[in-house]
Amino acid sequence: SSTRDAAAQGAQVLVASNRGPVSYEVREDGSLHAKRGGGGLVSGLSAIGPDADALWVCSALTDGDREAVRRGVGEDGVRMLDIPADVHADAYNGVANSVLWFIHHLLYQTPLEPVFDAEFRRQWASYETYNHAFAEALAEEAAEGAAVLVQDYHLCLVPGMLRELRPDLRIGHFSHTPWAPVDYFALLPTDIRAQLLRGMLGADRLGFLTRRWADAFTACCTEFVGGLGSTEIGVHGLGADADFLRARSHESDVEERILALREEIGEGRRTIVRVDRTELSKNIVRGLLAYRQLLDDRPEWRERVVHVAFAYPSRQDLAVYRDYTAEVQRVAGEINERYGTPGWTPVVLHVKDDFARSLAAYRLADVALVNPVRDGMNLVAKEVPVVSDQGCALVLSREAGAYWELGEDAIVVNPYDVLETARALHEALTMAPEERAARAKRLTEAATALPPARWFLEQLQALQALQRN
Ligand code: G6P
Repeated sequence: SSTRDAAAQGAQVLVASNRGPVSYEVREDGSLHAKRGGGGLVSGLSAIGPDADALWVCSALTDGDREAVRRGVGEDGVRMLDIPADVHADAYNGVANSVLWFIHHLLYQTPLEPVFDAEFRRQWASYETYNHAFAEALAEEAAEGAAVLVQDYHLCLVPGMLRELRPDLRIGHFSHTPWAPVDYFALLPTDIRAQLLRGMLGADRLGFLTRRWADAFTACCTEFVGGLGSTEIGVHGLGADADFLRARSHESDVEERILALREEIGEGRRTIVRVDRTELSKNIVRGLLAYRQLLDDRPEWRERVVHVAFAYPSRQDLAVYRDYTAEVQRVAGEINERYGTPGWTPVVLHVKDDFARSLAAYRLADVALVNPVRDGMNLVAKEVPVVSDQGCALVLSREAGAYWELGEDAIVVNPYDVLETARALHEALTMAPEERAARAKRLTEAATALPPARWFLEQLQALQALQRN
């Protein structure tokens, strides 16, 4: 068959990730409504063409997803795994998001955290079960010699498990996060850190967003498992999708939101824009404190600038994320109370996810504020310069992966230093128009150097080109 021929050439491609490209919602009448997601992987995978032999294996995440699996409803090219909800919750909330995410983003606050106790061991067993479910599904679906691209910290054990089941496959893994430095990775229990590294080293090839994260991973392997073995390491810095963003940001729903936002901002005011998931690593509160400092240090900006901050809910099953959302709202409210006037709201904060409104804010941005304490890449830093109507200035944390590509034309800050960030905001607001335009042009070039399609194909081809013994 043609599938077999394609397989013989190693042309079948499987992608595995926790969150898939589609999710389902049960409507009141009992029908299922499919919602397609976006992002680098979705556009990347579509680059291999509609006729390609491709399969995306992902978790059922919502009640609708589970119902779709039960009813046998689904999209071609997508297989959802109905992992028991409690196992998934332990693996995703307990291990991946509360431990691995915290390790790689240096988020633990001593003296209370981390604590690796019996409860954690139980969650770890679920993480193994959940990874094993992926490995088995991939082993079952993959044609001889297929390429499998496993994604992120949720699925670190899959490469090793899959290698055991199917030594014929070409296995890649890509980390969308930073990688922890040795001393921080060492916080993990001894056996678990070795298991995570060995699991990943089951891959033929491991991808990272920057050289910095790749080097950190290599250092952990040297320290804890005696090196990389035969696994190859690659760096692929995902860029912004300029064609998509430019077209999408001029559609009518975005234009409508521009009008509404202009109302909220008020006539003739400058805008400092940030858009994030409400995520501890994004450092939204220190961004607000820096803005408050700007209004204190430079009263001339009062009434003349607005901080447009969109902080969309994320991982709300975790108390620490809910608390962080509340803190963001509290600090924004405090600034508005203290400085606001009848005609001026200093911080325009929105927490309801709305992609069209995000693009509207991008278009209006004079300054983009991207100040994470640590971030794998940060695509907002790359997207705003591409979309902004008047070429925005970028205030950028040196701890974002994007810093390595955009640092020269951004105003770079230490994300913990609120005073420095306040000065950077002032510098960005006062940058001469010609300089701002020239920098925005170079930022846009750097930001779009590796669009999602090429980012994906580069990894796939590198994996397929490897000589296997
Ligand atoms: C961000 C990170 C990815 C991660 C994703 C998971 O986008 O950059 O590394 O996979 O979050 O988000 P989720 O909402 O699925 O927990």
